[in-house]
Amino acid sequence: MTEIKLGIAGLGTVAQGVLALIRRNGVLMTQRSGVSLRVVRIASRREKPEVDLMGARFSTDLDDLLNDPDVDVILELIGGEGVALDLIRRALASNTPVVTANKAVLAAHGNELMSGSGKQLLRFEASVAGAIPIIRSISDGLAANRLQSLFGIINGTCNYIFGEMEANGTPFDEVLAEAQRLGYAEADPSFDIDGVDAAHKLTILLALGFTGEYDLSAVHIEGIRHVTVADIQFAKELGYRIKHLGIIQNTDVGVEARVHCALVPSNALLANVNGVMNAVQVISDGAGETLFSGPGAGGEATASAVLSDTLDLGKRMATAADKEDSAAKGDMAEPSVIAPAILPMTDVSSANYLRIPTQDRPGVFAQVTQALSEFSISIDAAIQHEASASQPVVDIVLLTNAVVESAMNAALERLQGLDIVAADIVRLRVAPAL
Ligand SMILES: NC(=O)c1ccc[n+]([C@@H]2O[C@H](COP(=O)([O-])OP(=O)(O)OC[C@H]3O[C@@H](n4cnc5c(N)ncnc54)[C@H](OP(=O)(O)O)[C@@H]3O)[C@@H](O)[C@H]2O)c1
Repeated sequence: MTEIKLGIAGLGTVAQGVLALIRRNGVLMTQRSGVSLRVVRIASRREKPEVDLMGARFSTDLDDLLNDPDVDVILELIGGEGVALDLIRRALASNTPVVTANKAVLAAHGNELMSGSGKQLLRFEASVAGAIPIIRSISDGLAANRLQSLFGIINGTCNYIFGEMEANGTPFDEVLAEAQRLGYAEADPSFDIDGVDAAHKLTILLALGFTGEYDLSAVHIEGIRHVTVADIQFAKELGYRIKHLGIIQNTDVGVEARVHCALVPSNALLANVNGVMNAVQVISDGAGETLFSGPGAGGEATASAVLSDTLDLGKRMATAADKEDSAAKGDMAEPSVIAPAILPMTDVSSANYLRIPTQDRPGVFAQVTQALSEFSISIDAAIQHEASASQPVVDIVLLTNAVVESAMNAALERLQGLDIVAADIVRLRVAPAL
């Protein structure tokens, strides 16, 4: 049995989840892995008397984690770039393994942190999709495959909001306020609902499975603020549900990487991932279609992934010690497949859902189809409900054929300029075949 002594940075939701899991399942973890975990030091902004620190020493100085010779592995559970980045950098520089749940730091600094010894010393399973072991599945489980595509519901807040809008017909703003009250959305929800959180996670998946580069700027980012209950209902009428998706596709001309809302066929597996759950579907040449789903957030769910990394590091450190090979502390999470360049979003092709609010006048539909045909865009399905005296604006809802983004953008500009168009057009892409 090997004992690994932990230093924890932060004492928030995930750190408390780690303490709770070790307290409850520590013996089980040791039986399974041969590694015993002991928390020896915790450093955070302030102590919390209500939290049982399991005998660990507490301080408000993060340097104490680096300077304590007893600490074998540091768990960085603060988040963001600032002090968390500084701590990770300095720990790696002193050859101390780090486990983090911090997607923001990896998306922005992954290339630097994963160079040199970081490849062996830095683990981040919890940074994407909480409890789901997607990092290890891509790096290890699917290591023999060329990944063709990946589709993910990787932001539970967005998924929860769409679910509530659909189930109760409640407008976006009201659902968001309720999600904040329930703790499913942050006080400042912009990272989640503007797609940045999902883009951080997709950047990590893109690097590990497709390009080998951590490059947030390669990901096209859109959020969910523009989607209304009407869109969700029209999509349902057309046989789809609206999801906020992370999409990576390996094509002949480059890799597509994007997060945005998408219409997903109602009978697709991903369409039926509800509430705050996450799911990632990976299609690869050997394994075919694989689907991973589970809780994407929560103290203990995220701690489960943090501790999985920690135990794995512990096992490898024990093996290295047996071999008296101190350099062999681990070897996971190295980006594996070098793929073609990223495809610019303007070159990506999708079918589109358009909701065009129009004046209720004769000939309006013909004007819309005429404008689209100027860009060689045809219509696969249409909905136009009867106007009523109280409703002078009528929505024309269309599903287009697959069309390259640059053409769709130009067509949208043309449509929006028509005098029959009464308000902003809503455009959502249809997900590629899942
Ligand atoms: N929560 C989840 O479900 C979840 C899921 C997946 C990944 N993650 C990731 O896990 C990490 C931690 O998230 P969390 O939800 O546990 O956050 P949290 O609840 O806000 O906890 C962060 C902890 O860090 C402390 N802290 C903040 N700034 C500090 C500083 N400058 N110096 C020292 N301590 C500082 C905070 O102190 P105070 O206690 O004084 O605030 C708090 O204890 C983040 O990277 C997050 O993205 C979280």
